[in-house]
Amino acid sequence: MCGIVGILSEQPHSIRSNTLHMLKRLEYRGYDSVGVATLEGDIQKEAGQVDPFVATITDYETCGSIAHTRWATHGGVSRVNSHPHSDATGEFMIVHNGIIENADELQAMVPGCRPLSETDSEVIAAFFRHRVVEDGLSMEEAIQDFFRVTEGTYAVLLMRKGDERMYALKHNSPLALARVGGLAGGAFVLASDISAFSDETGEAYFFDDMTYAIVAPDAFEVFGADGAAHAMVPHSFEWSSEEATLEEHPHFMIKEILEQPQTALRLLESFRTIQSEPLTAFAAHMKRARRIVFLSCGTSYHASLIGAFMLNQLNYEAHTVIASEFENFILVDASTFVIAISQSGETMDVILPLKQIIDDCAGLGAIVNVPHSTIQRLSTVSLDLLAGQEICVASTKAFTNQVIALMGLAERLGFDIDLSVIPGKISQTLEDIDPICKHLADELSDRNEIYVLGRGAAYPMAREIALKFKEIDYIHAEGMMAGELKHGTLALIEDGTPVICLIPGSDRSMLSSQREVEARGARTIVVSNTGEGEVNVPPSGNAEFAIYACLFGHLLSYYIGVARDLPIDKPRNLAKSVTVG
Ligand code: G6P
Repeated sequence: MCGIVGILSEQPHSIRSNTLHMLKRLEYRGYDSVGVATLEGDIQKEAGQVDPFVATITDYETCGSIAHTRWATHGGVSRVNSHPHSDATGEFMIVHNGIIENADELQAMVPGCRPLSETDSEVIAAFFRHRVVEDGLSMEEAIQDFFRVTEGTYAVLLMRKGDERMYALKHNSPLALARVGGLAGGAFVLASDISAFSDETGEAYFFDDMTYAIVAPDAFEVFGADGAAHAMVPHSFEWSSEEATLEEHPHFMIKEILEQPQTALRLLESFRTIQSEPLTAFAAHMKRARRIVFLSCGTSYHASLIGAFMLNQLNYEAHTVIASEFENFILVDASTFVIAISQSGETMDVILPLKQIIDDCAGLGAIVNVPHSTIQRLSTVSLDLLAGQEICVASTKAFTNQVIALMGLAERLGFDIDLSVIPGKISQTLEDIDPICKHLADELSDRNEIYVLGRGAAYPMAREIALKFKEIDYIHAEGMMAGELKHGTLALIEDGTPVICLIPGSDRSMLSSQREVEARGARTIVVSNTGEGEVNVPPSGNAEFAIYACLFGHLLSYYIGVARDLPIDKPRNLAKSVTVG
């Protein structure tokens, strides 16, 4: 949800080869518009994506630059709403990730301020100019004042023409800093996440809320919002840069789907090695709690439903809730252990309720893919998904590892499952179902609606597969509990309506649902683990079936997206890391 990058280097760096190269690596956070500014005050920006922008800009060598890739919140997709923004004189330049909720109040504090854009961000530059130039505050005093008066979420990078330093402010939105020795004689890089610089370094500092940094080319200092010095320690991380390249694949989605035998194996091996202790500690927290509540969004929510399914089988009281509705639908008390599941670890809909409940619950377990992400840093105990960087907006390999991580925990609590066979069966499934997925994609690519039915552990997969048809293929799809069909949705089934039925074993209720839709003329596609379906996945228990059935949904949605010639990795209106609430 917007990516920001800033570089402050000892020798000049190139905005094309360095700044925008790093920005490109954050483009999955939003791709509505792009822009870059130099310390000398040159701002170039445009609606659209990074690659075409890079091809047309004038390259500059500079010691200070900031850049931004946008997911539009306030104001449409246009050049004028693109970042960086400056004050009317062009002296103060900013990039911002987040939402300034009281932008109108800030504007009222700046006499004569007439923003050109419709954004909540432009006023930040005007605010700093006013406080520093008109009111005579130092930059530090102005920053502290900004923290006092501003409401909302923000990671802001600020440059002032003629000042060789860069200023970074953070509250609620993520911000990391790294030293990159090989860049222009040595440089500091500030970025929304480690992906920006993970090909250059394996160590970074992560900002706490209500802190700011003053960064010079060779040193930086960090302060709390009141100006007191604030200690930040470096953390090392492993985040492969190879994963950011397509290699021989046409899209990241297919590359990431095909990586799953390896990524699943990596996670399972870690349960025996580096993550053995965290896994035991995590499971111990679950054992002690009176109830368990999962908190997550989107695809990660579907993984949490599988978690709740397995825990309920083990007689644990487990609930799931979509994080944005947390306060309306669930209660948390001192005996509740909360589990947050998130690929990015930065989803604001998850972070906001977590911050509210963290002191009142029995602890927070985090299951995240991005190391040192905000959700992981808030947690009492955590597991890394080890799926590697996921670039396609729609989650596939991270999702599968979320389910496997939950299976690992469930196994420690007594769930009967042989995890060791999963990577091999993933590999076999992908190979076996590829031809039928291509064939079905041809058949379904001109459809406007698809229904997916499941029960038990297959119900979350029905939702997940339907979500993929929506986000990747722009097909209206509904993934539902098969039992609910007859209470309304059956009215929509006509001759030829495609209905995917996920049927593990010989689930009688599912077979009834299949017959009910077929009696109304539906074109059913049965996914089975007994060899009786049109699509057949390896024999497995119900929870495990969910993984293989989902591979089918992911692969089918991919091939439909190809047939419809859609921008598979960057679907319209979406972003991978949703860091606004
Ligand atoms: C966005 C992404 C989805 C993802 C969801 C939750 O909507 O497009 O793919 O499932 O956020 O993200 P998280 O990082 O918390 O798993």
